[in-house]
Amino acid sequence: EKGNYRHFMQKEIYEQPTVVAQTLGSYLRRENNSVALPQFDFDLSGVKRLTIVACGTSFYAGMVAKYWFEQFARVPVDIDVASEFRYREPVLEEGGLALFISQSGETADTLAALRHCKAEGQTIAVVVNVPTSSMAREADLLLPTHAGPEIGVASTKAFTCQLAVLAALAAHMAVTKGLMSREQEIDVVGHLLEAPACLNAALDHDDDIAAMAHLIAPARDVLYLGRGQDYPLALEGALKLKEISYIHAEGYASGEMKHGPIALIDDDVPVVVIAPSGPLFEKTVSNMEEVRARGGKVVLISDAKGLADAGEGCMATIEMPEVHPLIAPLVYAIPVQLLAYHVAVVKGTDVDQPRNLAKSVTVE
Ligand code: M6R
Repeated sequence: EKGNYRHFMQKEIYEQPTVVAQTLGSYLRRENNSVALPQFDFDLSGVKRLTIVACGTSFYAGMVAKYWFEQFARVPVDIDVASEFRYREPVLEEGGLALFISQSGETADTLAALRHCKAEGQTIAVVVNVPTSSMAREADLLLPTHAGPEIGVASTKAFTCQLAVLAALAAHMAVTKGLMSREQEIDVVGHLLEAPACLNAALDHDDDIAAMAHLIAPARDVLYLGRGQDYPLALEGALKLKEISYIHAEGYASGEMKHGPIALIDDDVPVVVIAPSGPLFEKTVSNMEEVRARGGKVVLISDAKGLADAGEGCMATIEMPEVHPLIAPLVYAIPVQLLAYHVAVVKGTDVDQPRNLAKSVTVE
């Protein structure tokens, strides 16, 4: 039940510190800061190429994870939305690993892609939230998320729990391949274990986000920009906003702005910029300046340091705690979810059951 919350989506957003902690708890050992995957009897050290397939929000979790698999485990990652993957005659490496990500475990396109890969002799790993689902049953390696039942059609807690599992898996793969030293493992696991507290700190800014939702609600179009692992977050922010508030929204890699989308900018199009301080910050901010120079109204989501450097002149800012880059995608999921949520509430749409959408898409 919803308890004190107005919508399931809101309740599920607030459950994230708890369910991410639960999920991390089953993949990491707190006593010695090590990665320990449950019942994992597959040797990851031989994996030469990883194929990731998913849809919607689960696909964006996979996009974030691509950075981790490449950065930590130096494994090339091929990632596709399920509905495209099946029709492009993908080249699959012998003995390869294919990873499917799904909240429901029943999404028809993802399931069909899984069966295709199985028939092609790939080992099938599945990150799934419903343990009794078809995907869970058909997996060789089952990596459950422990988000609990997700009722709102907009996926929220499943996403951050998927990220938690994927980060642990990437670290595990790196350790197995001898690419992550014990010291590095202690460091990475330590940062992952900081995530629940940082998610709580992000939720503390809920009221500020609610207070600025009326600035976005009248817009017809909204753009989201991010760079590096924040690019999938921009896509996720745009998906959340469009699915529950019915405002047209698109996410772009910040650097792509000047290759076309910048033509859309005027003072009617709010631009949400996701930019934690760090090595990519300057570049993203210069893309943001290009938007501002054309009259664009920017909402900057960053930490205190980033906001001090670049917050001036923005239509609004959303402050996040300063966090390690590894967990930034989990933490920055919160403000994009809350922004979509509050805009939808201002607009009076059906937050938990948006029009034309189903929680689990069982047709191809
Ligand atoms: O159950 P799945 O994770 O396989 O579902 C995939 C998409 O249908 C899902 O993430 C969809 O995009 C959500 N409604 C997004 O909030």
